[in-house]
Amino acid sequence: MNFHTRKWIKPEDLNPNETLFGGRLLEWIDEEAALYAIIQLENPRTVTKFMSEINFRSSAKKGDIIEIGLEVINFGRTSLTLACEVRNKMTREVIISIDKITMVSLDEAGNPYPHGKAEIEYVKDRLAK
Ligand SMILES: CC(C)(COP(=O)(O)OP(=O)(O)OC[C@H]1O[C@@H](n2cnc3c(N)ncnc32)[C@H](O)[C@@H]1OP(=O)(O)O)[C@@H](O)C(=O)NCCC(=O)NCCS
Repeated sequence: MNFHTRKWIKPEDLNPNETLFGGRLLEWIDEEAALYAIIQLENPRTVTKFMSEINFRSSAKKGDIIEIGLEVINFGRTSLTLACEVRNKMTREVIISIDKITMVSLDEAGNPYPHGKAEIEYVKDRLAK
């Protein structure tokens, strides 16, 4: 699991219970997965198709620093499936885990488009070619 992004929990991210609002966290996760898939598949028309069971295991409070981790589970023909874990940066306590997030690469007409990718690539290696 690679933890790419850190977030700082601010007052506008809280629910009435004064802890991190679940919808905000899902928004961050969805954006993180989309960015990751777009970069890997080299297609900006990549959308979220499926998320497996979402397990909020602990919470976060104002001022906490959290980090969002992703791991590739599978390169499909038109899809990329990721696992996600979000944890407290300082304590490593897991806040949420999602076993599968499936992103699908689309063509201009919005139909699934074979991405031709089979393994993780790094932008620096692409640029070196
Ligand atoms: C993405 C979309 C075009 C896929 O259409 P579809 O008819 O399911 O297409 P397919 O059956 O050809 O499946 C496409 C890929 O998704 C995968 N897939 C389809 N349903 C899935 C599911 N329930 N769970 C996991 N993967 C799934 C397929 O395995 C396939 O992957 P592969 O080519 O790597 O094997 C269509 O469902 C869609 O437009 N959904 C809305 C997406 C969107 O707008 N998301 C933003 C949030 S609203």
